[in-house]
Order: sequence, then C-alpha cells, then structure tokens
Amino acid sequence: MTILQRRQFIAGTAAALMAPAVFVNRTAAQTPAASLFPFSVASGDPTANSVVLWTKLARAADDLELLSRLPIDVEWIVAQDERLSKVVCSGTGSALPEYGHSVHVDVQGLRPDRWYWYAFRIGGEMSPIGRTRTLPAADALVSRFRFNVVSCQHWENGFFDAYDGMADDDSSLVLHLGDYIYEVGRGGVRTHETDKPLRTLDDYRRRHALYKTDAALRRAHERLPFMVTLDNHDALTEDSSDAGELAHRAAAYHAWYEFQPVRHAPALHAPTMPVLRGLDIGDLLRISIPDTRQFRDSESVCASGSDKDFAFGVFQKPCEAAEDPQRSMLGVAQENWLDARLSGSQAKWNAIASTVMMSTFDMDHEGELYRYLQSWDGYPAARQRILDRIEGSRVSNPVSIAGDIHSTLISEVTRRAGEEPGRSLMTEFVGTSISSLWPEPLARPMHDALPANPQVRYYESQKRGYMHFDVTPESLNVEMRAIDRTDQPGGTVHTDRTFVVENGQVGAKS
Ligand SMILES: [Fe+2]
Repeated sequence: MTILQRRQFIAGTAAALMAPAVFVNRTAAQTPAASLFPFSVASGDPTANSVVLWTKLARAADDLELLSRLPIDVEWIVAQDERLSKVVCSGTGSALPEYGHSVHVDVQGLRPDRWYWYAFRIGGEMSPIGRTRTLPAADALVSRFRFNVVSCQHWENGFFDAYDGMADDDSSLVLHLGDYIYEVGRGGVRTHETDKPLRTLDDYRRRHALYKTDAALRRAHERLPFMVTLDNHDALTEDSSDAGELAHRAAAYHAWYEFQPVRHAPALHAPTMPVLRGLDIGDLLRISIPDTRQFRDSESVCASGSDKDFAFGVFQKPCEAAEDPQRSMLGVAQENWLDARLSGSQAKWNAIASTVMMSTFDMDHEGELYRYLQSWDGYPAARQRILDRIEGSRVSNPVSIAGDIHSTLISEVTRRAGEEPGRSLMTEFVGTSISSLWPEPLARPMHDALPANPQVRYYESQKRGYMHFDVTPESLNVEMRAIDRTDQPGGTVHTDRTFVVENGQVGAKS
C-alpha cells in the first residue's frame, strides 16, 4: 500500500479520522449508532507468522438483519504502529451472507513475536483499530512469555470487567477455555435478550451479539489476540443422533464461528466444529488444546434418576462403567495427536488446556461417594493413558490448565483417586470464571471434602477473575487475578494470590 492509499484508507469520514484516538479512549458502549462495526474488531489463533483478523458487519448489535444477500468486500490493513502509518500489508476480504457477513482474514507473512495494529474499512467507514501479536518462532530461544487464561462468562451473573485487568499486564495472548456464552439463564444483575431456550441459528446469533456488547470484553478483544475453545454451554454436547438436536448443535457452532476470531469455519449445517489447537512458544512452552466435548464417550454413563439431581447434576455416584479402559474423552485421533505432541516436545514447559479439570476429586456427601463425572474423573482410563505418556516420554514440566468449575483449584494430578500426591506427575491450575457463579450447594460440599483430597493445594470458589501466567525457563508463575465486584461495571482487578512451579518440580508453591 502506498502512502496515498494509506491516507485514503484512513481518510473518508470524520469517524475514520478520529479512529486512533477512538481506539485508545473509546468504550464499546460509545460506538456510534450508525457504525457498520457494532461488534468492533478482534484477532485470534496467532502463529509465528500469521493471525486471524475478525469483524462482523451489522447495522447495530440488536439488528442482525442481513445487510445484503450478496458477499460484501471489506478492506483490511495491518501496520506496525497504532496510527497505521507503517503499513505492513493490506487487502480485501469477503463478508459472506451465509456466515452472517462475518469477516475472518488469515493474514500471512508476518514476523514472529511482535505487535501489529489493524483495522477494516467498508465504503467510507473505518472500524476501530485493534492490536494483535504474533507468537515467537518455533525455533526461538524464548526467555519469557506471558498470557492470560479465562473461562465462563455468564451474562446474567455479572459484568465482564475482569478483562480490564489485562490492560497493562504485558500479556501476549488470551486463552479462553469456553463458556463464552450461556444458552440458559435464570436472571441476575442483567438479563439475556430472551429467557427461552436457544435452538436456531438466529437464536444463537442474537445471544452472541448480546455478549459482544459487554464493553470490557470488546476492549480485551481489541487489545490482545484470543485463542477460544468450546465448552458445554457454547454448544450442545449431549450424545444425540436426533436430527433436530444435530441441527441445534450445527446452529450453535455456526454462530460461534461467526462471532469468534478463529481460523477454521464449520461446514454449513454440519453438527461439528474444528476446534483442536496446539501452539508452540519457541523452546519455552508448548500448549495443547484438545477438544474435550465433541468426541467424548457418553458422560451420562453412571447417571441414575436419583443422583443426577444432586448439586445441579454435576457430581454423580461413580460406577464400574466409568472405569472401562476403552472410554475416551478425546477420541482415538486426538489421543494420538496429544501423544505425539507430548512425546515429541522439546519445550521446557508442556501445558494441556483441556477445559475440564484433570485432577481427581472425591466428595463424600451424606455417606455416599460422588465424583464430577463430566470431567476427567468420568474418564479415568483416558487420564491414565495421558499420565503414562508423560511418564514414559519424560515430558518436561507437564502442567494442566482448566476452567469450567468457576473456582480456583490448584492441585497435583494423581493417577487414581486417593493416591498420595507425592507421586503425581503434573501440576494443575484450574482458573475461576470471568463472571459465572459457583453455587453454594456445590461450593460447600467441595470445601468440606478438601481434607479427603490432599492433592488439592488451594480451592477458592467465590472470587471472579482470571489467571495470569508468566513463564520463564526457571519457573512458571501464576497470578490469580480477582475483581472486587461484577454486579455493576467498573470493578477493580487485583492480584489475589500468586503460585509458582519451579523447573523440574511438580506442585505449586504460594
Ligand atoms: Fe461455565
């Protein structure tokens, strides 16, 4: 792009001329009503030389009527500075009506480990300017890498201002472990656009559009690249071959893609979505993000009428069938993929981000044993296979990262429930939610069960926030970042606790 072209990109409308200042100061809630970019911009799935740039065209966040029945050309630009003066590359992407005029530009040829700024333009209107970052090169010697891990943002439970804690923390990436939206709600500090269950593509689009109006969430997307994966509230995960349920699932995946900065599109009307990802941070860190929901064997294997109602159906009485060595949470292909990534890794730290907790957790309740069978406790043979691989291949510094339970839980992953944690092979960090609550009927028995679960070093269920990882060759430091309130916007984020795992050790110290 020539200087003249760059000027033409920036110029054209008053809004466009103001864009750099808008990026710094604007809150999403102040987006001009006439904007064709009511959801702002986002970036995601970075590699060492590429990143996906995202936006979605609409008249307004609550007006998802298609702008046209035809594809719409959208110009994009990537630069080395926030004023877009040092242009690196530019082009034209296509917003397709079948994908709700969302735009996913996979920009290639970028340089590793650096910041870039980007924007879109259509006609005379320019989007807000976003910032993104590539990963270090696969063969780089990396001395430090910082990233944030988030999960579970229930709109009705609270505002998402915990994201604003990331404004100055020098992270390079946000890893979102799912429950980006919730398909259900019972009311709270704010309400969903409908209290009816979501079923159609239009339903899911409206739900995603609503969530994207949270100002702090949009600021985070404008500021950092995301890697987003799916958990159970994002899309149906129950086993089903019913055509109506499959269409429901396809609608959820389709809308999820339209609203996320992800690289791979689902086939139209397909009840599957490619979300498996792996990333490498030079020689320092390998993160594997398997898909734990689409390929799992039935999670209702032990459910009976009586215990399914206990604690919102989360904890159930275990049964023999769950111990079946054939049972898998990831499916054969993903288990092989994870095997290869673990055994072939040269990285100093090796993280598995599986959305659900990998640690065992036995809960005694009124004289009965309960386990969280939707997590790895329902797939103990599959967990054992991963631990066998870690031990057999002498994987360097294995760490599990999870979300899902709206609580902070730090533990050591043992092969079996009740095993001495001193023999564990992997440290686990389960991070709390951005806003979703963990109900008292679940939190209390978990607290009561801690003495019987010595593998758990720390458990906290009432604070909302995220985890900030700071990784060096010598240690992995994790700050538990907590927000003081989520019942209204403007909460303040602080570091609540800090844990460290030393190179070569298993287990976190505070
Ligand atoms: Fe959740």
